[in-house]
Amino acid sequence: MARALGATVYATASPQRHEFVHKLGAAVVLDHNQPGWPDRVRELTGGGASKVLAIAEPTLEGGAAAARDGAVIATPVHRAEYPGTERVRWQPYNGQPSGSGLIRLAPWFDDGSLTVEIARRYYWQDAAAAHREVETGHTRGKLVLIVDDDLAATIEV
Ligand SMILES: NC(=O)c1ccc[n+]([C@@H]2O[C@H](COP(=O)([O-])OP(=O)(O)OC[C@H]3O[C@@H](n4cnc5c(N)ncnc54)[C@H](OP(=O)(O)O)[C@@H]3O)[C@@H](O)[C@H]2O)c1
Repeated sequence: MARALGATVYATASPQRHEFVHKLGAAVVLDHNQPGWPDRVRELTGGGASKVLAIAEPTLEGGAAAARDGAVIATPVHRAEYPGTERVRWQPYNGQPSGSGLIRLAPWFDDGSLTVEIARRYYWQDAAAAHREVETGHTRGKLVLIVDDDLAATIEV
């Protein structure tokens, strides 16, 4: 989505995910297990990223360090305090449904430039196993919980 809006995207991921994250549109993918990744972002962007999406809880510190002065950092991770607030502006958000937002995304789904990666499907009876998978902190894509028994009969899990 960021690339479609004209951004050059610098992303972080574990090494085994780098190819996948490039395919999603990132120009540069850095290993977040290497402690120097925020400095590398600052070097590559000539002073830091102007907009940051800090979507994983362990990236809040690094996201602030990788941001240029005056940058906006959006995050779904809610904290009483965020790092680097003297230099950057944090914008916490919640994943609330928005019809108008979905309408804006629809053409990208139609032309295939946006897809949803499904890691695995679980029947609702196996919800505990789905939670355990999420708790690993390294799921690639979404887990789908099937709650409709009729629909479940038509889907290969
Ligand atoms: N406010 C809301 O409405 C809302 C909604 C949903 C989620 N959230 C919050 O958003 C956050 C993300 O949730 P999630 O469901 O995506 O699951 P998650 O398990 O918290 O995050 C998974 C991601 O974290 C990355 N990661 C793991 N260890 C890392 C590290 N040391 N440094 C940097 N990245 C690391 C993983 O990348 P690799 O696999 O490549 O290592 C993976 O992409 C959570 O804190 C959750 O509570 C908030």
